[in-house]
Amino acid sequence: MIPPKTVQDILETTRIEEVVEDFVALRKRGINLIGLCPFHNEKTPSFNVNPTRNIFKCFGCGKGGDAVTFLIEHEHFTYPEALRWLARKYGIEIEEVVRTPEQIAEQQITESLYIVNDFALQHFQEQLFDTDEGKSVALSYFKKRGLREETIRSFGLGYAPDIRDLLLRRAKATGHSIDLLQQLGLCSQDQNRDFFRGRVMFAIHNLSGKVTAFAGRTMSTEKTVPKYINSPETAIYVKNKILYGAFQAKKAIRQKDECILVEGYMDVISLHQEGIENVVASSGTSLTEGQLQLIKRNTGQLKILYDGDPAGIKAALRGLDLALEQDLNVKIVLLPEGEDPDSYVQKIGREAFQEYIDREAKDFILFKTELLLADTKGDPVKRAGLIKDIVGSIALIPDPIKRSVYLRECSGALEVSETALVEECNKLITQGLRKRADREARKPGAASDTPGVATHDFPSHEPMWEPPVEDGKDFKTLNNNEQEREIVKILIRYGDQNLTEEVSVAYFILSDIDESIDAFENDLYRMIVSECNERLSKNEMINADYFLNHESKRIKDLALDLLFDRFEGDYSSNWEEKLNMPLQYQKTIALNFDLATRSALNHFKKHKIANMMSINAERIKNAELNGDIDGFTNYVKIQMKLKEAAGRIAKLTGTVVL
Ligand code: UTP
Ligand code: MN
Repeated sequence: MIPPKTVQDILETTRIEEVVEDFVALRKRGINLIGLCPFHNEKTPSFNVNPTRNIFKCFGCGKGGDAVTFLIEHEHFTYPEALRWLARKYGIEIEEVVRTPEQIAEQQITESLYIVNDFALQHFQEQLFDTDEGKSVALSYFKKRGLREETIRSFGLGYAPDIRDLLLRRAKATGHSIDLLQQLGLCSQDQNRDFFRGRVMFAIHNLSGKVTAFAGRTMSTEKTVPKYINSPETAIYVKNKILYGAFQAKKAIRQKDECILVEGYMDVISLHQEGIENVVASSGTSLTEGQLQLIKRNTGQLKILYDGDPAGIKAALRGLDLALEQDLNVKIVLLPEGEDPDSYVQKIGREAFQEYIDREAKDFILFKTELLLADTKGDPVKRAGLIKDIVGSIALIPDPIKRSVYLRECSGALEVSETALVEECNKLITQGLRKRADREARKPGAASDTPGVATHDFPSHEPMWEPPVEDGKDFKTLNNNEQEREIVKILIRYGDQNLTEEVSVAYFILSDIDESIDAFENDLYRMIVSECNERLSKNEMINADYFLNHESKRIKDLALDLLFDRFEGDYSSNWEEKLNMPLQYQKTIALNFDLATRSALNHFKKHKIANMMSINAERIKNAELNGDIDGFTNYVKIQMKLKEAAGRIAKLTGTVVL
């Protein structure tokens, strides 16, 4: 039990942003902070932290609450665990009650699993540091490998002597549950042999620094003995969501805005010791989506260090498409033959190592292109396959600007015309979008954040939007209200700001769409735009404060929503992904609302004109059928005018300039 007074202390001291920042990279936006939601898979930040109110809220998946809720949801803590975690963070003392074996048994299962792991870690550390055998066999092994004592301690390294049931006996003697020990894979099924024997031990931490598992490395060079053995998956060790070293690296990854990925435990530890701390390991397997998301939450830059032969590297590259889908910038560094990061950093030292990886880092796509190109010399079939392969990777990149840069560069490297690559790429993107739309349509109500499925943020959970059109026949129609929403958003956010000395954003927008206001399909958006129009004519303010205090709750809520809009920062792909149009303006509205405004308007008008044209085409057909010659000529004239207008707008919205 934590005394109520202490609970209150903890809650009052806690700053939501400080807690969330331990897990999610946040950046400032206005008085709030935003980041990628850790509770669902997303590429554009919809996760908001409000320091003033001390709460968080995700506008994508709807999760929200205070710091305790965050910890319970994110770390799967119990309520008391969350409080304890906070107490530790803020240095608030809790009078801990001494646990009896009975109480331990009553503990929540996960909490007790962590306790047993902590106990095991302590045991392995004691064996390493405080026994003669440990010192002479294991500690000296680590030291021979260049590790310093502080490193050995901070990474939770240890030693399991080659004794059948040492850990089991210790556990019994100290009243720890043998069932839990077994559940953690620390002893055999029949509970009479330790799992790790005669090995040096590596603790594996989760993001908040708790020990979730262990790996044990043999010290023998005997080829028949497996080099590493690892804890099995358990309730607290989900392998595909854990990156080795992430806890120790987290801060540095954010500070440097880059994550270095290596293969081995020793590589992480060695680099860290040398002061290169933004390093994690995939533990010898290819990256999973969960691991990539973990990286993505902290940085968009991933640098992968490879040792080994070209064949192995080729296989590894195949797994990296997932990283592109997460919109990570991936760079590859090949180490000199015969070296791994551990050996190489110890050989040449930190500075030279850092220089080496900076110098040698090659962009993933270009690296892949060059590597595969070497194989296809003079073989047109292979070459065609290679082009498909590369363009396939490029098509996965959510950011259209990046895509077009890659297509250009690869067209040079592959000696294929850029247009051909662009076409192929667009084809793949459209196919991808269709597939996704089909999938969405087939699972009504299903959230788009199913793990393992990359999504492009279809607004299926957005009540403001109309549901996507069945089977996505025409993607443009999906975006209709989005365009309206965009206009409303710009009005609410920037209405008062000046585009030029005399012209405000609101004026610019409203004078341009004055006649189309009635054409707004969403009644709420229409209401707001008409109200803006009225206010403009009376010279009244059009700004966020006004709408945030609006008498209509719907409008107030919408204003709040728009100020927190989750598409901010991804303005480009919002249009681009769904309209499949290129982009000619800055990424964030705030950076360039002039262009953004024009662009939103143009897209809006483009859609309206297309609508009018199809209505008018219907009229032409009817007039013809009914022999209404006057009507017919009239409508044909209108159609030509519309077509002209559409052409002008198409130029403004810019069609394929890749
Ligand atoms: P490495 O063989 O490169 O190991 O395997 P390492 O970490 O560099 O270790 P040292 O330097 O030889 O001591 C890379 C990673 O693959 C996993 C481990 O996570 C290891 O760190 N692995 C390797 C296993 O899980 N089991 C094995 O038998 C071998
Ligand atoms: Mn190694």
